[in-house]
Order: sequence, then C-alpha cells, then structure tokens
Amino acid sequence: MCLGRQVPLLVDVDTGIDDALALALATRSPETRILGVTTVAGNVPVELATDNTLRVLSWCGAADIPVFRGASRPLAAGFQDAAHVHGANGLGGAELPGPTRNVEELSAPQAIIQLAEAYAGELVVVALGPLTNIAIALNLQPELTTKVSSLVVMGGAFDVPGNVTSAAEFNIYADPHAAAHVLAAPWSSIVAVGLDVTHQTALSRASWARIAEDAQGTEGLTRRILARTFTERGMSGLYLHDPLALAVALDPSLISTEPCHVRVTFDGAERGQTRAENGGAVDVARRVRAAEFVQRVAQRLGLPPVELSGALRSAE
Ligand code: RIB
Ligand code: CA
Repeated sequence: MCLGRQVPLLVDVDTGIDDALALALATRSPETRILGVTTVAGNVPVELATDNTLRVLSWCGAADIPVFRGASRPLAAGFQDAAHVHGANGLGGAELPGPTRNVEELSAPQAIIQLAEAYAGELVVVALGPLTNIAIALNLQPELTTKVSSLVVMGGAFDVPGNVTSAAEFNIYADPHAAAHVLAAPWSSIVAVGLDVTHQTALSRASWARIAEDAQGTEGLTRRILARTFTERGMSGLYLHDPLALAVALDPSLISTEPCHVRVTFDGAERGQTRAENGGAVDVARRVRAAEFVQRVAQRLGLPPVELSGALRSAE
C-alpha cells in the first residue's frame, strides 16, 4: 500500500445491499481514490445493479465517479440472482432518489482495460460480484494481470460451508467459469476474501437499531437499506462480505492469508465449490481482525458505536 498517496481503485459490483455499504465505505476512505465503478449481473440484473450503483454514489455525494455497465449474464452458466436476500430492487426495498449522473457509454470490460493501462502498476481492482467482467477483460487483454497492481476478490468458501449451497459461495456459484479463469491467471497479486473470514464480520441488528430513523448520509443509507433485513426478514445480523473485501484492498493487514491454488467446480451439486490446495498464486484469507474492521466500518459510515455481536442467530 502506498503510504500517504491515495490508492487508485476500481470497484466491480452487483449492487445489492453489501455492495452499497462497500461503496459507501470507499467514499469515506481518504486513503483511496475511486477511479470508476463497473457493474455486473449478480444479486440483481445488471440494469438494476447499475441504477442502484448510480443512486448510491449520488446519495454519498460521489456522483463524480463514473459507472460502467457490464455483463448481463454469466459466461456459460445460467443466471441466478439473490433477490431473496437483497430485495427485488437490490437495496432492501429502499427507494433512493434518482441518480444525478448517467451510466457511461464505455462497457465495463473496456473500462477495466483502459484504467489498468492508464494506471499501470498502480490500479487496485476490487471484485464484489460474479467475476464475469474481470474474465471478459482478461480474455480481451491477457496482459491485464501485469498492469493491475492487485486484484481483491470477494468470493469463495474454502474451509467453511457455502451460502448458496453447502458447497458454494454466491459470487463463485453465479459464474464458476469466470471464477476459474480469473483465479488461475498470473496476477501480480490476487487475494480471495471468502466466507471463511467474511462470516466473522457482521453488523448486528442491535447496532442498526441505534441509528436514528431520520439519519442522513452514509448512516441514513445504512438505516434504509437494512430495514427489510432486520425487520421484515428478522435477521439478527448482516455479514459484511463486500465491505471487508474493500477494506482489505486498502489495508491488507486486516487479514492473514495462505498462498493457494484454487480449483473451481463448474456444475452439478458442487457447482461453485472452491477448493484451496497449498502452494499457489492466490492469497486465500484465513484469519481476520474482525473487531477492528467492524469498528472501522461503523466509524467511517458514521454509525453509533457498534455492539460486536457474538454468535448471530441468523444472518446473510
Ligand atoms: O456471497 C456474498 C457475495 O455475494 C456478496 O458479494 C454479495 O453482494 C453477493 O454478491
Ligand atoms: Ca456483491
């Protein structure tokens, strides 16, 4: 990480609830400069993910950040969304004001290629959805692996059960062929932040309930987009999958990793399973400084002091 200088960042999202929190966190992180956000089909269809991303960035006062629409479906597998978790509109039913900026003409894969060229050796890419855009960009320009300084992927369930099936985490399950392609490429640095660590980080319902109903800014965004999760769905916590991957890109010391070769299963009952074998190029996250991370998220989003929840009764 460049001390003092801002980390040039590109974030790939399938905006959903935790993607929105990750974007909000990025806009409140002085150590980074977000050069662009690319969108991909995942939690919700790509058109909705794109509109949600534009609305969230406008809400956070970051409408100066360009948004590039990407893949509308996985490379080969059938599209499966996660609307049951994120709500039909992808933001827990929260109706944010219309965006103050339009999506760019340039496609997401081309934006990834162009930003990697412009910031060769510096650009950090954080992938928070299915890896379809990254795989397409890599297919178009294999040298991407040397131009991107570091790729941080929210994805995988290595020594823990999955969250779509017992075998698979959603981002990998959604596009296993893209994941296999990306995880096998010779990146300068690639980090996999899987459920092994994200399931140790959650925002508890009790912490959310302390946010005032009329809160504004990133605190108000958190209140609005999590209302359905904590009331209608009765969850006791929200796992901070995407915010953790974003935070790791800015502060790798939050996790400890092991170098692994990752095998991805394409189909059948184990579709999307990720098996890590020792000795490879993917730094798989094994441990996380969870309390410090959750408190940092709360502080940067302007939330009341959080309760570091113990075992959650139910969370997603
Ligand atoms: O498994 C969690 C991941 O899948 C998160 O990125 C969430 O937003 C969904 O995309
Ligand atoms: Ca996501």
